[in-house]
Amino acid sequence: MNNKVTDKQVTIVVGAQWGDEGKGKMADFLTKDADYVVRFQGGNNAGHTLKIGTEVYKLHLIPSGILHPDKVSVIGNGTLIDPSVLMQEIKKLEDKGMVINLRISQRAHIIMPYHRLMDGVLGSLQGQLAAGSTGSGIAPVCGDKSLRLGIRVIDLLEPEVLNEKLDKVWSYYSRIFEAFDVSHELTFGQMYSDLLRYGTLLSKYIEDTEVLLHEAYKTGKKIVFEGAQGMSLDPDQGVYPHGTSTNNVATYAGVGSGLGMNEKKHIIGVAKAYVSRVGQSPFPSEIEGEQAVWLRDKGGEYGTTTGRPRRVGWLDIVQLKQAARTSGITAWTVTKLDILTGLDSIPVCIGYKLKDGTIINEMPASLTQFREAVPVYHYLPGWREYSEAEFNTMIAEGYDALPDEIQEYIEFIESETDIPVQIVSLGPERNQTIVRSTM
Ligand code: IMP
Repeated sequence: MNNKVTDKQVTIVVGAQWGDEGKGKMADFLTKDADYVVRFQGGNNAGHTLKIGTEVYKLHLIPSGILHPDKVSVIGNGTLIDPSVLMQEIKKLEDKGMVINLRISQRAHIIMPYHRLMDGVLGSLQGQLAAGSTGSGIAPVCGDKSLRLGIRVIDLLEPEVLNEKLDKVWSYYSRIFEAFDVSHELTFGQMYSDLLRYGTLLSKYIEDTEVLLHEAYKTGKKIVFEGAQGMSLDPDQGVYPHGTSTNNVATYAGVGSGLGMNEKKHIIGVAKAYVSRVGQSPFPSEIEGEQAVWLRDKGGEYGTTTGRPRRVGWLDIVQLKQAARTSGITAWTVTKLDILTGLDSIPVCIGYKLKDGTIINEMPASLTQFREAVPVYHYLPGWREYSEAEFNTMIAEGYDALPDEIQEYIEFIESETDIPVQIVSLGPERNQTIVRSTM
């Protein structure tokens, strides 16, 4: 069976919902035909679980491409790096005997221990308006980047500049912690020596990845950009302020890698067959009660990073339409259709009803409207339980072997969003995937 996804030089994989759509599996799947795999935003707030054979890999920062040692994995400048997390991740992979073919941008910003502390301060300050952060320090490190107080990877290799920068930024944070009465054991000396140590340990991976990627692009190498989080968490297009702090729409791939791209790209929006959300925000199509427990457990919907139980809900077409627009999605991958089994009928959210009775079909910028939004459902026929073996037979035979109801579900997504569903994922393994055509 031909399972080549694309002939295009650049493929960008982004999440179309609230994250956790199955992007890691897709990036890994695409890597077989690529030369470079690039992370361009987010930090270790992300979590990708990959299952290859009997091995399960949980990655937070390192691109999924690392599991293919002949490919180059790049952590681009738009990624936020907690060096302690990165070192642990490298060590775990080395312990499994993996070859680490990794390059880290000199320009990526460093997450410091004071950023993680500051996440807690911000969370309690924001109350109802908080996003329910993973506590990895993302909002504060992005704040510092904008305030021009950030420490970058290159600084770990330049003790004098590091000293100069850390001195300024620490005098700022120590005053904030004093004002908010935050107790801590952070000291300038300890943080400074930790950073220099990380610099020494990571130096072999650090380089000008902007130049590296430009050379790769110019010489026709195939590049996969691996997005983290999902469109509704995007700070510009998503449900602000209930999102994260780095953009995750596909257009950010250029900013977060330093690669200006003028060729045609294939942009894959990954959408789960239902929706999950970890963290705080209005969630119109949320499922409550026993059915939520059933779906959460069946889908293994527990955070890779925090272990938090994820909230679950029915597929939201309003959200997918916005994702398609804002990322310029050229095809969908729909994941976890194998989880949504055994239901008589399946509600799909196609609009929101507001308090005054108005029905809207686009994501509102207004928090008031999003808070009062009640889902308007279209009901599609469900399908019975199928065993993994039955699904594997369907996968081997191709799309037409899928039950009519599953095909109807997929084709409903296509007609509502006007974007083709190119890839159907029916299980966590690489080979549990149907590619309908090469695009
Ligand atoms: P932060 O990025 O850790 O500050 O979290 C901000 C919001 O984004 C919270 O609602 C998190 O639960 C959510 N979030 C961040 N990263 C991910 C992810 O990779 N998957 C799902 N939700 C995420």
